[in-house]
Amino acid sequence: MGIFLLIHYKVLIAHYLLYPYGSALDALCPVSDDGSSPRIDLSVTLPLFGRNYSYLYVDNNGLLSFSAAISSWTPRPLPISLNNPILAIFWADVDNRIAGNIYYRQSRDTGLLARATSDIRNYTQDQNFQAQWVFVATWDHVAYYGSTSNKVNTFQAVLITDGNSTYTLYNYADIQWTTGTSNGGDSSTGLGGTPAVVIL
Ligand SMILES: *[C@@H]1O[C@H](CO)[C@@H](O)[C@H](O)[C@H]1NC(C)=O
Ligand SMILES: *[C@@H]1O[C@H](CO)[C@@H](O)[C@H](O)[C@H]1NC(C)=O
Ligand SMILES: *[C@@H]1O[C@H](CO)[C@@H](O)[C@H](O)[C@H]1NC(C)=O
Repeated sequence: MGIFLLIHYKVLIAHYLLYPYGSALDALCPVSDDGSSPRIDLSVTLPLFGRNYSYLYVDNNGLLSFSAAISSWTPRPLPISLNNPILAIFWADVDNRIAGNIYYRQSRDTGLLARATSDIRNYTQDQNFQAQWVFVATWDHVAYYGSTSNKVNTFQAVLITDGNSTYTLYNYADIQWTTGTSNGGDSSTGLGGTPAVVIL
């Protein structure tokens, strides 16, 4: 059982980097400050952090959480408690009431599985990996709390499992801000203060 984390940056061709997403494919997180998806029951047993998970939450503030929804808007560089393990793709004070959508889906679409299989084989030594299930969460053009600018971030998490190993891709298509005003960020730049945290 293994967890591998691969981070791709915008320079690695953002348009092809993101897995397909959008309203035709995905469910939506609520449009709300500090909201989360409902509990998403998974159609696989997902091995992660040495445990098996059967559900997760997509949290508006840039997290996936595996025990409870998380509304906290202040990122912390924590060793995460196993009581509520999280993946922090870009933990910061997203406010999609201002702009953006947060999409998610689980899929066994053959084209998507083929791409995931190819990605993992290309980027790891696991040449026999065969993706069985993929989860895609996308924060699409999301604004920050207190924004007076047009700055938005687009980033994505992809969980890929064969039921035995789980890989996580973090895809950063476009990052324009790091901080909401409740965390000391500047309303016009979205920078400064306590900036976003990425926890692998
Ligand atoms: C997770 O589930 C698999 C079978 O689905 C099982 O083989 C494995 O032992 C489980 N792992 C843990 C930590 O419970
Ligand atoms: C993986 O590598 C193969 C061979 O180099 C290439 O054709 C394919 O496009 C790559 N796939 C991805 C998803 O990068
Ligand atoms: C799962 O992982 C174990 C331990 O690495 C390995 O022996 C087994 O063959 C794997 N099973 C599958 C279906 O990949």
